[in-house]
Amino acid sequence: MQTRVLTVNPQHPEPEAIAEAAEILQSGGLVAFPTETVYGLGANASSANAVARIFEAKQRPLTDPIIVHIADFAALSTVAKTIPPSVAPLAKHFWPGALTLILERNDNIPPIVSANQATVAVRMPSHPVARALIQAADLPVAAPSANAFSRPSATMAAHVLQDLDGRIDAILDGGQTTIGVESTVLDLTGERPTILRPGGIALEALQTVLPAVTMRAKLVEMDALAQSPGQLIKHYSPRAKVLLFADETAIPALIKTARERTESRQSVGVIGLSVERTLFQALPIAFFDLGETLEGAARNLFAGLRALDALNVDVILAHGYSREGIGAAIWDRLLRAAEGHIQAG
Ligand code: TXA
Ligand code: MG
Repeated sequence: MQTRVLTVNPQHPEPEAIAEAAEILQSGGLVAFPTETVYGLGANASSANAVARIFEAKQRPLTDPIIVHIADFAALSTVAKTIPPSVAPLAKHFWPGALTLILERNDNIPPIVSANQATVAVRMPSHPVARALIQAADLPVAAPSANAFSRPSATMAAHVLQDLDGRIDAILDGGQTTIGVESTVLDLTGERPTILRPGGIALEALQTVLPAVTMRAKLVEMDALAQSPGQLIKHYSPRAKVLLFADETAIPALIKTARERTESRQSVGVIGLSVERTLFQALPIAFFDLGETLEGAARNLFAGLRALDALNVDVILAHGYSREGIGAAIWDRLLRAAEGHIQAG
């Protein structure tokens, strides 16, 4: 199939393009669209057939559940069966935004959306294009990240087309997404509200509203990563091998590894903050500049992994930063890209 590219103004999307995309969703098709986190690959969440096409297009295993996107709070009761008391304050502070809540699934949502679980993931995105699309379609929209399964998520339309061109009906191109890492997934179905995936809304911010929120234990361990369905360790992976160092204290070891690898004629990529570029000036490596701040690093991380992959490097070297705030999400994505391995140093 031919994938239609509909270019829209990210702040004030053109109604014609939105109407065309909404019609595709209503007739069971697939539309990729920007959210404030990453691009999503949308389908009508109440149609099992439409949702099945998402899994097919992404080559995503049916065991990996999908987030349902809504545009207003009233729609929540059509997606979730019960709405626990903690939802209202969370929604008031963080919706629309980068927070996904795990709740009990309403029967309107077919089991395929949730990998046959009794729960459902729901999010109200803030991006004007996402909101306009969901409103125009007048449907709950099931949407995983718009990348091929296990590839880095897409933060630009070009990334979506790299992975899915010819496999989806259309894409709304609204430019680069602003947050750059996916939403925080917060499970409200257990005894204690638990973050299953750190993301765009920080643990610390959630705790100001709901002090009991906790990060899933042992996030770094393989088995813990496999706990949330779809939280497979191999995720966000570029083709090149990612060598991940724990933090700034390992920079000397990282530089040493870069030198050794280039000396043994490997092609080396490094991703780092702008200030780190000069550390590698003497070495024949490709440096991808993540920007000046951790927010910038989150925004540019997936683009960096994809850009270095496009240069066909053999290895990508990176290190962790702070694990606080958005740093927790950056570390999580780096760790998955490195398939759970941390280099000594
Ligand atoms: O920012 C985002 O969350 C983006 C945009 C498009 O909204 N979406 C996204 O979707 O990242 P995806 O499919 O790539 O990741 C969804 C995550 C997975 O880790 C999945 O396991 C988890 O949410 N998830 C979905 N439904 C769940 C459920 N019922 N129970 C537990 N985890 C669930
Ligand atoms: Mg994903």
